[in-house]
Amino acid sequence: MSRAQPHLTVVADANALAQLAAEHVMAQVMAHVNGGGDRLAICLAGGSTPVRLYELMTSEPYRNAMPWRRIHWFWGDERLVPHDDPRSNFAMARRLLLDRVPVPPSNIHAIPTSSASADEAARRYETELRHFYGADQLDPHRPLFDVVLLGVGPDGHTASLFPGHAELEQTRRWVVGVGEPGLEPFVPRVTLTFPALASTREMLFLVSGHGKREIMTRILAKTDLPATRAYAEGSLVWLVDRDAAPEQRDVA
Ligand code: 6PG
Repeated sequence: MSRAQPHLTVVADANALAQLAAEHVMAQVMAHVNGGGDRLAICLAGGSTPVRLYELMTSEPYRNAMPWRRIHWFWGDERLVPHDDPRSNFAMARRLLLDRVPVPPSNIHAIPTSSASADEAARRYETELRHFYGADQLDPHRPLFDVVLLGVGPDGHTASLFPGHAELEQTRRWVVGVGEPGLEPFVPRVTLTFPALASTREMLFLVSGHGKREIMTRILAKTDLPATRAYAEGSLVWLVDRDAAPEQRDVA
């Protein structure tokens, strides 16, 4: 698998964004199943942008067509709060998606936030990911994930990889703790590193709303930011709605 250049699509609005994102997820899942894969892995994003996508996937045609029992669910990052805390990325995905479709509980791999620290949670999650993958080294020809969903913060962070933080340089670890995110909510985070996020058949960035237009302008100018450093062993796709896209972009 070679490292692809990012591909950007601009859509009309947040609903069209969710629709196209769901089609991408479904296409990757079906490609893997049709290729003989029997166990799939999707890495979910936090934040507010994926809310419509998660809701949409509980309705037809996805509800009926997705091989729910074969898909394992992971998170790209988490806030170090209990799993029932409203700030929890896990809680959001469970409430909107995983509680509403037939997913076996053993397929849900939440980041263990009951750990004493973000570092301990990161080590435990890394162990779980390595165990699921069945090796300690990521093979570019055998991606860990089928789809990795990501968002972008107004400062250009993605997952919990924040500008200027040492975690951006991490090449050995799959998961690391982040003590001070410097952004709300001000709680320690746990995040997958770039190499772990990159181990995917498709990395899908979702960006929506006027509040993201400025950072999208910087991203398209290839400014050095966490979101522009992200790479994927498979395809790298940016889905952006018109409000978030700089003016001159055409709508797909
Ligand atoms: C988190 C996220 C984070 C998020 C961006 C975009 O835990 O906050 O994983 O990386 O995706 O901050 O968030 P919005 O979708 O809310 O704009």
